[in-house]
Amino acid sequence: MFARFFPTLLLLVPGILHAQLAAAKMDFKKDVQPIFAKYCYQCHSVQKKKEKAGFVFDDVQRLSHDVGEGRIIVPGKVDESDLIPIVLGSNGKKEMPPDGDKLTMPEVQKLRQWISEGANMPGVDIAAKMARQKRERPHQVMNWTSKEGKAIKASFEAIEGEFVLLRMQADNKVYKVPLAKLNPAGQIQAKLQAE
Ligand code: HEC
Repeated sequence: MFARFFPTLLLLVPGILHAQLAAAKMDFKKDVQPIFAKYCYQCHSVQKKKEKAGFVFDDVQRLSHDVGEGRIIVPGKVDESDLIPIVLGSNGKKEMPPDGDKLTMPEVQKLRQWISEGANMPGVDIAAKMARQKRERPHQVMNWTSKEGKAIKASFEAIEGEFVLLRMQADNKVYKVPLAKLNPAGQIQAKLQAE
């Protein structure tokens, strides 16, 4: 009886291990959102009307705009996602949150795992979004000049409130530039692109 049962048990073991790994998958609401709530909402929240640098973390639809190639969250590519150096204050990034308690290593690990698993969030089809971004024709690179006369080369992505999203030619990353920081010609150029 036991001899016949035992091999069956061995066959079951990989299945059990697999089930445990699958169960450990990050869940946005349960694992990720509480981290943003604890450390970020104070300054990046639609509800609190605080949108420092144009980022909010309590509105999934808005946050989903920060997901994609060159954005702060690149699904499946932890090493390209600036969110991680930003919460670590590494790679020359200004550390977030700027003061008070920092994320613990297990919390950083949760963010890393969530990104590597595809940065899923409720109500957003991240895979479809990535496919769509890939299909879209790359935007034309243009010259933009700041009020102070500093020129950059970047392609227009979108206008979000007071910010224009520009993909810099230098590193192919999307930056949120306050419209007010562009010279008048640049502000007009951004608005024309958005039409
Ligand atoms: C006490 C207020 C405060 C808190 C809390 C805070 N931030 Fe910020 N954040 C700011 C300010 C101010 C800026 C603009 C900084 C600048 O441009 O010098 C900023 C900028 C940013 C930027 C854009 C700049 C960049 O490096 O790309 C990101 C992304 C960001 N924060 C993410 C976060 C995340 C994630 C958290 C939580 C882990 C967080 N912030 C918590 C105040 C805050």
